[in-house]
Amino acid sequence: HAANFLYMLTGEEPDPFRARVLDVALTLHAEHGMNASTFAARVTVATLSDMHSGVTSALGTLKGPLHGGANERVMEMLRAIGSPDRAEAWVRAALERGERIMGFGHRVYRTIDPRAPILRRLAEELAARGGEARWLEIAGRIVAVMAEEMERRGKRVYPNVDFYSAPVYSTLGIPPDLFTCVFACARTPGWTAHIIEQLRNNRLIRPQSAYVGPVGR
Ligand code: COA
Repeated sequence: HAANFLYMLTGEEPDPFRARVLDVALTLHAEHGMNASTFAARVTVATLSDMHSGVTSALGTLKGPLHGGANERVMEMLRAIGSPDRAEAWVRAALERGERIMGFGHRVYRTIDPRAPILRRLAEELAARGGEARWLEIAGRIVAVMAEEMERRGKRVYPNVDFYSAPVYSTLGIPPDLFTCVFACARTPGWTAHIIEQLRNNRLIRPQSAYVGPVGR
């Protein structure tokens, strides 16, 4: 699938290493517990809506920049920074403005996302084999300044999967506006497996909400 996908995208047969890199990236993105898009898929089909609607709900949820949309924003950031020597000032200024740095932090992990180092190694190997090394150099500077800033602010925020998928996808020749789409292709097996599991033993998902506003109005 990975090799054929790259072939269809670029019109050139990828070498086995590049196909392997995409295969690993797709595998790492395939499933990840009860993340927001998977939850959305399960909520949708729990009404006995259909598989396509479940995946559509998941897609709409994945595209948000706090979820799968982050990888495209990471690439925007790498391009905006442009060269390694500008990274430190760029990140510090963004944090000063109260902005979040895309590709860092996770709703569940309070340590490095275990998928991130695997993708970093792939990005390093791609660069060593003649790929674009600049993105990885900028990424390395961002990680260093974020480690310092987060430590100083007492926050446990570390690189996540989207931080390194951006340089990997870019070096594979995938355009940034397809990054989240590639994530969605990879996540579809996970979503559909969850949908099948949900329907096998279904019950409507209907959380309660507790009203905490003023009463007697
Ligand atoms: N850059 C800068 N600061 C960040 C940050 C980031 N990427 N992620 C979290 N923080 C800060 C928060 O502002 C918060 O500060 P506060 O206590 O002063 O309000 C603190 O770290 C703790 O945040 P946390 O509770 O861990 O965040 P969360 O669980 O509500 O949100 C994310 C998790 C993923 C939504 C968040 O980390 C984020 O927006 N990351 C960027 C988008 C991204 O990469 N998403 C892909 C996730 S796989």
